[in-house]
Amino acid sequence: MLQKISDLIKEVSAYSVNNGEDLELFRLKYLSKKGIISDLFEDFRNVSVSEKKEVGQNLNQLKQSALEKYNILKSELLDKEDISDIQDLTRPSVSFGSGSRHPISIVRNEIIDIFTRIGFTVSEGPEIEDDDHVFTKLNFAPEHPARDMQDTFYVSRISSEDSSPEDILLRTHTSSVQVRVMQNQKPPIRTISPGRVFRNEAISARAHCIFHQVEGLYIDENVSFADLKQTLLFFAREMFGKETEIRLRPSYFPFTEPSAEVDVSCKICNGKGCNVCKHTGWLEILGCGMVHPNVLDSCNIDSNKYTGFAFGMGIERLTMLKYQVNDLRLYFENDIRFLDQFKTAF
Ligand code: DAH
Repeated sequence: MLQKISDLIKEVSAYSVNNGEDLELFRLKYLSKKGIISDLFEDFRNVSVSEKKEVGQNLNQLKQSALEKYNILKSELLDKEDISDIQDLTRPSVSFGSGSRHPISIVRNEIIDIFTRIGFTVSEGPEIEDDDHVFTKLNFAPEHPARDMQDTFYVSRISSEDSSPEDILLRTHTSSVQVRVMQNQKPPIRTISPGRVFRNEAISARAHCIFHQVEGLYIDENVSFADLKQTLLFFAREMFGKETEIRLRPSYFPFTEPSAEVDVSCKICNGKGCNVCKHTGWLEILGCGMVHPNVLDSCNIDSNKYTGFAFGMGIERLTMLKYQVNDLRLYFENDIRFLDQFKTAF
C-alpha cells in the first residue's frame, strides 16, 4: 500500500490539464467520494496496527498533495482563459481616458477660427523682444509709465558700436507683432497674432504675470472706423451669440488715434444687470482704434496712402466670460478636476 501511495503522489504531481473538463476529471479521479484517495482511506481500516502510523501519514500527504495540485491547476486554467478572452476580437474594447484641451487653447482656436473666416491670417512674433518693437515704434513716449520696471520684465540691455544701448525684455503685449508684420509685409495687411505676454504683477485671482492676448491688424487704403466697428460686431456675435450687442467707449492708447474700449452686452442677464457684469449689463472685452500715423510711418508704411485699425484682447478675460471662471490662477495650475470640465468643448 505504501508503494501505491508513493506512485500516486508522483502521478498527481505530474498531472496536467488543458481545460475545465480535464480539471473535473482530476477532481473525480482523486478527490471525489468515489475517487482513489477515498477508496484508500476505506482500505486503511484494514492496515495492521504496526503499519498504521506510517501509512496514515503517507495517505494524508497524498490527499494534501492532490488538493494543492487541484488548486494550482485551477488557477493556471483561469490565467489561460484570461488570455483567450483578450484574443476574442468580438469583445467590446476597453475604454481608456482621453485628455481635454485647455480652455485657453479652446478660446484661442475659436478666435482664430472666427477671424480666418473673414480673411485674416495668423502671425506670430518672439516672446523675448526689444524695446523698439514693444514700445518705441508703437509711439510710446520715452518716459511712458508702461516702460516702468514695475510692469516690464527686463532681460538685459545690449549695446552695439553703431547704436545706442537697447533693452531686451519680455513683451508686455502682442502689439509688438503688429510692428514686425508691418516691417515685413506690404498692405493690404489683415492679420491676427495670438500669443503669451508677461507683466510684473503680483499673482491673484484677477491678475497674473503671464497671460495671453490676440492682436488684430488691418491696413489698406480707405480703412475706416466703421470697418473696425463692423468687424468687432461680427466677432462678438460669433463668439457670444447672435443677439450680442457691442458698445465703444472712447479711450487712449499711444499707438491708436482715435482709440476705444469695447464692451459686449452681458449674455448672463441679457443686459438687465447681474453680478458678472456688476449690474451694468456690459462686459469689457478689448481695446482698439485706428493705427496712429506715427506707427505706420515708423514701420515704413505711407500714412498718407494707407489707414488701418488694430485691436487687442485678453484670452483669459474672454474665457472667463464664456465659461464663468472667476480665478485666473486656475488656468495655470493644471488641476485635472478643472481641465476635465472642458472635455466636451472643441
Ligand atoms: N496692447 C493693448 C494692451 O495690452 C491692447 C490694445 C489696445 C491693442 C488697442 C491694440 C489696440 O492693437 O489698438 O492693453
